[in-house]
Amino acid sequence: MTAPEARVPEADAFPPGFLWGVATSAYQIEGATGADGRGPSIWDTFARVPGAVAGGESGDPACDHYRRWPEDVALLADLGVGAYRFSVAWPRIFPEGAGRAERRGLDFYRRLVDALLERDIVPFVTLYHWDLPQALEDRGGWRVRDTAERFADYAATVHEALDGVPYWTTLNEPYCSSITGYAEGRHAPGAREGHGALAAVHHLLVGHGLAVARLRENARPGERVGVTLNMSPGVPASPSPEDAAAARRMDLMVNRQFTEPLLGGVYPADMADVYGEITDFSFRRDGDLEIVSAPLDFLGVNYYYPIHAAAAPYAQPDPALRSAYDIGVRTVMPDGPRTSGLGWRIEPRGLYDTLTGLAARFPGLPPILVTENGYGDAGDADHTDDTGRIAYLAEHLAATADAVAEGVDVRGYFCWSLLDNYEWARGYAARFGLVHVDYATQARTPKASYGWYRDVIAGRGAPP
Ligand code: NOJ
Repeated sequence: MTAPEARVPEADAFPPGFLWGVATSAYQIEGATGADGRGPSIWDTFARVPGAVAGGESGDPACDHYRRWPEDVALLADLGVGAYRFSVAWPRIFPEGAGRAERRGLDFYRRLVDALLERDIVPFVTLYHWDLPQALEDRGGWRVRDTAERFADYAATVHEALDGVPYWTTLNEPYCSSITGYAEGRHAPGAREGHGALAAVHHLLVGHGLAVARLRENARPGERVGVTLNMSPGVPASPSPEDAAAARRMDLMVNRQFTEPLLGGVYPADMADVYGEITDFSFRRDGDLEIVSAPLDFLGVNYYYPIHAAAAPYAQPDPALRSAYDIGVRTVMPDGPRTSGLGWRIEPRGLYDTLTGLAARFPGLPPILVTENGYGDAGDADHTDDTGRIAYLAEHLAATADAVAEGVDVRGYFCWSLLDNYEWARGYAARFGLVHVDYATQARTPKASYGWYRDVIAGRGAPP
């Protein structure tokens, strides 16, 4: 465990106007999956598959935020955040994925946005945080281009309804929606495919680009549009050339197949080295990369840990049958500090490397917002003395400040998460919140980290 008295950067280590925030997502906190005409999402379906989610848990009731949101807005206000990042549930707006918009769903987010604005909290909307309407999955999901087009329609509908939102991010972590969902099969829809997963990568990117165009068409003054990527540097497990190559493959799969099209308008030149044998990429159309690489106002970076990679045999020897997740890599866990809940490696340096690496590799990079960073702990039922989380956040803020000192244009930091919530395939066992949630009673109890972060935001530094 890292020492809780880890270095906390001084308030002036961040630029004026730095956005301090917290983040959540719809399926992870809202519950009420049948309320007000909401349609089923792929996560409702996936959670019912035996063995798919720890404990067979689903996003109901989660934090019952759909009904208790005023209490949660009060927690945000007491925390003193400048911004709140939340997602809109697509199946609340288009229960069938397309067609008629559900007014009651839009009204829910309208009320939330108004309540935030009344408290001087900047609303930051994520349009897609993994809860694809099941009706669209039934028509092919992200494997098919139509889903990208439906996403753009949905984005335009939400955008029209929610004026007063200055920050819009199209996708959250498209890596997880594509590779984890359609190749690894650990997330909804639980598919294990080769070609299908890479088509999902592409259609998510196209959907992003089409949505950006729709938001730009009706842009309101001061609005900023971006995308949020999970970034995990690939670190070779040893100095061997084989492990260096494995780390490069990991870096391509997790990071570069998203950053390069989005920020540079090209897929990585070495993409075929990793995937060439399992797909013909025929789902790509001329002109797509121009759509995908439309200029952005910010890049959202979610960072939790780096991935230490060693070369390994492919799980499926026949390339024609190989999953897009099967890239000849084994991840290894060197000795060192880890989070108590999920056992994730704690390496703040990885955040510094990510931020400085992006700035070095992409000339003209838009400003960066760290849209997620946080610590999942073991989830002992009433654990609020979360010194491990405080240390983690302090060290990652210090890493962010170091990148700022190197000249990287970082404009904000959002802690994941305001509340303990539904950690996807891990169910409710891992807790990331600054606020503890007792799922039986829905009581909210601020943890030590909540008071600590409040002090950091207020510029008072951290109490010992
Ligand atoms: C990233 C995802 O965006 C979020 O939904 C998840 O809970 C956190 N990482 C922690 O795993």
